[in-house]
Amino acid sequence: MFTAAAITADSKSELYTELAQQARGLLHGETDLIANAANFAALIWHALPDLNWCGFYFYDGKELVVGPFQGRPACVRIAIGRGVCGLAAQSRQTQVVQDVNAFADHIACDAASQSEIVVPLIRGDGTLLGVWDVDSPRLARFDEEDRAGMEALCEVFMEAVL
Ligand code: SME
Repeated sequence: MFTAAAITADSKSELYTELAQQARGLLHGETDLIANAANFAALIWHALPDLNWCGFYFYDGKELVVGPFQGRPACVRIAIGRGVCGLAAQSRQTQVVQDVNAFADHIACDAASQSEIVVPLIRGDGTLLGVWDVDSPRLARFDEEDRAGMEALCEVFMEAVL
């Protein structure tokens, strides 16, 4: 049974380093996609402040379909290229949106969301698994350290499920 150690980091980069270690431990020895996605979302939800949603959208070969998450019920299907999630999937680039109200094509699943980060999940063979999406009720919640930290966390996730 995995028990999350108390996170004692006093800087954001340390927090992400500790969180990546915890994620590695949590996912170790398990390759089931849904199990790992559910535990990954729960770990991050409880470790990072100021979030109102975090979770996965998986690519079903046609569009993005919601997967394990924490937060309020969300939109189920998102077309590639639509919203922040669809743009991350299409561009294969992490999207950091400081103010979702100023992002014309933002899909509002939870009216509380003010800022958002979405990391594309690409398999080793170059195919799209889906995206990791994190929303905050605070404007400009995510900066470059969050981008680097979230991308590192997603690498841990991808290593575990491949
Ligand atoms: N806001 C996202 C949709 C997903 S929800 O935030 C959970 C978007 O614009 O893609």
